[in-house]
Amino acid sequence: MREFKILIVLVFFSLLVYWGVEPYALSKMEKHVAPATFTYSDLKPINYKGDPLKGKLLVVNAGCTGCHGIKIANLPSPMSKENASASFGVAPPDLSDAGYLYNAKFLKHFILNPSHTMLNQMKFSKQHPFPMPKFFGTGGNKEHEVSDIVAYLKSISPKTLGNKKVFEAACGRCHNMKYDKWSSLGMLPKFKTQTQKLEYAVKVSKYQDNLKKYLGALPPDLSIIIRAKNKEFLKDFINDPQVLLPNTSMPRVGLTKQSTEQVIKYFEKVGDKKKVQRETLIPKIIGYLIIFTLFAYLWKAKLWKELH
Ligand code: HEC
Ligand code: HEC
Repeated sequence: MREFKILIVLVFFSLLVYWGVEPYALSKMEKHVAPATFTYSDLKPINYKGDPLKGKLLVVNAGCTGCHGIKIANLPSPMSKENASASFGVAPPDLSDAGYLYNAKFLKHFILNPSHTMLNQMKFSKQHPFPMPKFFGTGGNKEHEVSDIVAYLKSISPKTLGNKKVFEAACGRCHNMKYDKWSSLGMLPKFKTQTQKLEYAVKVSKYQDNLKKYLGALPPDLSIIIRAKNKEFLKDFINDPQVLLPNTSMPRVGLTKQSTEQVIKYFEKVGDKKKVQRETLIPKIIGYLIIFTLFAYLWKAKLWKELH
């Protein structure tokens, strides 16, 4: 019976180390914040039900399409990403998926006052203005007009969107994802020659230099972010970067809960391909060891019995 007790003690401590210590240490190392709610409660509600048809006209009349493409409505981007980054610091994203990605209240406030809503207004000034102007309106009630625009964006956006697409549309204009062949200019093309490859690398570097000038910090490649940070951290960080990294230039982008979870799933897929395998394998190994030890013990007991 003594061996059996030792076994129990061993198994107990192994499990404790596996499930207890590492997650515990990680949780101690990371800053604790109120968990993300995705309600953007600092922004006041704008409860006006917009009219998508009016919104469609506003998007053109208010000049959105002077900077943004809306592919889904057959409106190509008015300038290349390289040129846009040279003038704005970053390429304005295509707005086809905006109605899917972003919280509606966030979007209304973002259009009214972009950098304030992104919570990175301290990175901008008169000399270095945020590139997207505050919505100046077209003569009507501004809150009604932004509600119309958001209603239009919702009406054209797809009802479902793949995890990778969510990343590309919401984060991909700033962050590279080398492990998945994504650069902030788009998916890496196939190169026929070394020169082509180098030329492309130069384009990406120029784009990144512009980003750095624009934001004061280079957005990191996110290929293995899922190994450096746990899911809860990422969820809270995406919901409100300032809380976890005060004074960061990473914007609050205003994703819904659903799109945030999709981005994290995408990070898991790219950064930790073996995770699922590993997680199902470990309990199997432990189970095998327990059964094996039990048999060894029974066998030993039998041998001793025969000897006596
Ligand atoms: C002068 C160019 C310009 C105009 C005009 C403009 N934008 Fe933008 N917009 C930008 C740039 C540049 C960004 C990216 C800024 C960043 O990521 O720091 C952006 C970002 C956005 C985003 C992404 C927000 C997020 O949370 O990531 C949305 C949505 C958007 N614009 C909608 C609009 C709408 C709607 C209009 C018209 C009312 C408009 N924009 C007008 C340049 C412009
Ligand atoms: C307008 C550009 C921009 C966009 C869009 C953007 N980021 Fe960032 N992000 C940054 C910058 C700049 C930093 C570096 C911040 C710093 O060093 O202060 C950063 C840092 C990060 C970090 C690292 C945090 C850390 O602790 O080191 C993560 C994770 C991240 N971003 C995730 C995202 C995700 C997910 C999205 C899309 C939902 C996104 N970002 C969209 C600019 C951007």
